[in-house]
Order: sequence, then C-alpha cells, then structure tokens
Amino acid sequence: MNAEAAAQASSSSVPSRPIPRKEGHWFWGCALDLAADRTRFLIEGHAEYGDVFVSRALVRDLMFVRDPAVVNAINVTHWSDFYKPDYIKMMWKPFLGNGLVPNDGESWKRQHKLIMPGFHKKRVDAYAPTMVEFTERMIDRWKEGEQRDMRLELNALALEVVADTLFDIDIGEGDSETIRDALADISEILVTDADKMIPRPAWWPTAENRRKKRAIAKIEAIIRRVHQERLTHQHDRGDLFSHMVFAEDEQGRMSDKQLRDEAMTLIFAGHETTAHALTWTWYLLAKSPGKVAKMREELGRVASGRRVEVEDLPKLPYLEMVVKESLRLLPSVWAYARQAQRDLVIEGYEIKKGQTITISHIAMGRNPKYYDNPLEFRPERWTREFERSLPRGAYVPFAAGPRVCLGKQFAMMEMRMILATLIQRLEPNLSEGFEPDFVTELSMHPGERGMQADVRFCEAR
Ligand code: HEM
Repeated sequence: MNAEAAAQASSSSVPSRPIPRKEGHWFWGCALDLAADRTRFLIEGHAEYGDVFVSRALVRDLMFVRDPAVVNAINVTHWSDFYKPDYIKMMWKPFLGNGLVPNDGESWKRQHKLIMPGFHKKRVDAYAPTMVEFTERMIDRWKEGEQRDMRLELNALALEVVADTLFDIDIGEGDSETIRDALADISEILVTDADKMIPRPAWWPTAENRRKKRAIAKIEAIIRRVHQERLTHQHDRGDLFSHMVFAEDEQGRMSDKQLRDEAMTLIFAGHETTAHALTWTWYLLAKSPGKVAKMREELGRVASGRRVEVEDLPKLPYLEMVVKESLRLLPSVWAYARQAQRDLVIEGYEIKKGQTITISHIAMGRNPKYYDNPLEFRPERWTREFERSLPRGAYVPFAAGPRVCLGKQFAMMEMRMILATLIQRLEPNLSEGFEPDFVTELSMHPGERGMQADVRFCEAR
C-alpha cells in the first residue's frame, strides 16, 4: 500500500481512541492559562492528559498533539488535508500577506516551486564564509570584561546575515535597527492579538494596530528600495531576493505584492528563529563547561588555527549534536499549528473538519518515552543509533513533509558556523547572578532582560 492509500485507509477507519479534555473556566476555558504561560500549558497539559488532548479557548476548540505518529501523519502522509489555521492567517495577513508560511493550496504550491531553487545547497553553502566573517566582525568590536546581551547581539548578527545572503544589502545601523525594532513590535502585537478573547480586525483603529501598521510600513520601504534596485540593474546577484525577482513559470514572474509578502516572510522566518535558537544554545553551553571543552577539542582537531569552513561541517559531529540537543530542549519554534480541511481519523483519533491542532514541539522534546532524563542537556544522546530508534515525528523542530522549513539547511549551517566561531574565541557564560526569562511569543526568547553575558576571550583557535 502506498503512503497516499495508507492515509486514505486510516482516515476512513472508525474512531477508536477517546481524546481527553482539559476542562478550564466555564466561560473562557483555557484561554487565560495559555496566555499566562504557553509552553508551560503545553508541557504540563501533555504530562497530565497524554500525547493528544483537547481544550477550549473561549469559543475555539483546540487540539494539542505530541504523539509522533499523529505528528507525522499531519506533517507527511496527510499534509494536504491540513492548512494553516484561519485565525493565524488573519493575524498574519497584514504582515506576511500570502507569503510561504501562511499560504496554502495551489498558490502555496506555485510559490514553493518558484522559490525552492533559491535554497539550493550550492547557493546556501556559498553563504558560509559571510556567516563566519560577520561573526568575527561582531566579536572584534567587543572588549574583554564588558557585558553584552547575547539575544540582542545574535539577533543583529542573524539579521545582517539574512540581509546580505538573502537580499544582498549591506545593512546599515539604521536599517538594522529599523527592522529589529519593527519586528519586535510586530511579534509582540501578533501574540497579544492571538491571546485576545475577542480578536479585533486589522482595520480596527486601536493604538496597537496603528503601531503594527507603522512597523510594517518601515520594513516595506526597505523591501521596495531593494526591489527597485534589482529591477534597475536587471540581473541575479546570487542572493535569494534576486532569484525571486527573476524566477518565472508558465504564469510569468510573481507579482510585486507576492514578492513583498515573500520578502517579509523570509526576513521574519529567516532571522529571529535562528538568533533565538543560538541564544538558547549559548545559555545551555554557559551552564555546561564540559560540553564546551568537548566542542573545542573537536574544533581544534579539525580547524586548528583557522576559520571554520563549510567543508569542515561533516567532520564536526559533536557540534551538530549540540545544535540538535538545543533545538530539542529549548526550541525557538516551540509549536506550530494546522487546521483540518475535512473530517478524518488519524491513529484512531477523530478529527473534525475545521479543528485546529497545535503540534507541541517543546512538549515532544520533554517526553520521557523518547528522551530519558529529558531536562538534561546531553548532546551525546544524538548518536546515529539513537536517531534511528526515534519514531518518525518524534523530533521535528523544522516540521517535516512538503511544509518543512525551507530554510532548514540554511539554518543548520548558519547555527553551526556561528557557534563554532563563537566557541573558538569566547567562553560562554552568563553574567554573575543572571537568569533569563522564558517568553513565548512567535518564537521563544529570553524577553526584554535579554541574555546577559560577560565578554571572556579564550583564543582557543
Ligand atoms: C533554527 C531556525 C529555524 C527553525 C527552528 C525553523 C522552523 C520552522 C518551522 C517549524 C516551520 C513550519 C512552520 C509551520 O508549518 O507553521 C518553518 C517554516 C518555514 N521556514 Fe523556518 N525555521 C528556522 C529558520 C529558517 C530560516 C533561516 C529560513 C529562511 C532563510 C526559514 C524559512 C522558512 C520558510 C520560508 C518556511 C515556510 C515553508 C513552507 O511552508 O513552504 N526558516 N520553519
């Protein structure tokens, strides 16, 4: 039986597994618990109610999933039966429009086909030296002993990388700050909107909506400028934006509006996610000097006395294990959501058309069924045998199937290049007495207090 037929067969079977319900307040259900601490809600909810449970936020019925077989079915075998939820699309519309992340159906298929070649391995690998060079430039600006907020620094670095590699613009201080502040505003407002009991439409003239509009307009102005430059010079400069401007199929090139939406999506999806994943990796390493020593030992063997190159990566398995473990324990993308497009039964669970489902990635990583002592940061667990023993769907920080993160290779490469360069020159630490907050907005980050660390050079290279 092929995958499609198997999917059809499982969807036509009779529901055989009851789904536990987490009852909340008689009126608002679990809305306040969710808003108070989203990741805690997921982690504790799954620990108490199992791998699949339902709850209600005011009028919206929500399903939460961390069962690998169900996750795999949603991501892979049944992927076309699930779209991005309407309420998330509504929330994202003014910002990402119809960009790849919120898009669905035929329009998504066309856009995906047009954009995917821009993420070809050869093109992405060519960005590696830039990632290292920008990291070195950042470190060169620092002085021994001074305090730095690693969240802020790594965000600025990741944004510089995206601007250069995806848009071929040398982002000035001004543009960088504009984009960073605008994105912070947007991210905060979008999440506040998602928590609202009664969502307000984008045109509603609230102070937040006005602030969001202003933030979006600032990024749009930068995108328009770059677009105009590309059209004037009429050639592909090797960056992803050029690829998108000139890519065409039988329907021609993408429209200016679509190009704006895709550019917005890439700026958003392409830097905060990686920056926050790196911030958490720094945090975990600051608490694990033994792991840092092991990374250095490996780096010393492979790239002693020189910069790391993309060709070194296959020879740095421990570096990759560190990244994988960090994305399990403290993932920046802590959850993602889908909405069923028809009634179906998956693994015995009945899913009604319209049902929204949260794939609780952070709770999956804390499931002791698959990860022994899940709260321990142990990169060593990521052996080949261990990965092979994990059921499909048990580790999907970048999602999977056709809707897998388009920047997965880019991000995995970027994280390793930046991390290796940091470790070669710096001692990961947290400033005396500092402990971060855990804030779950669109990505999980340490909030306004940041990730405070002291610059301690080690020159291990
Ligand atoms: C550690 C870093 C990253 C993580 C953990 C991550 C994770 C994810 C996840 C979970 C999704 C699926 C979201 C959903 O289905 O709702 C996604 C989608 C996407 N990501 Fe990433 N991402 C990362 C970095 C990047 C980078 C660097 C780029 C671009 C350069 C990127 C571009 C995209 C795009 C375009 C999509 C939409 C794909 C589609 O639906 O066709 N991501 N990412």
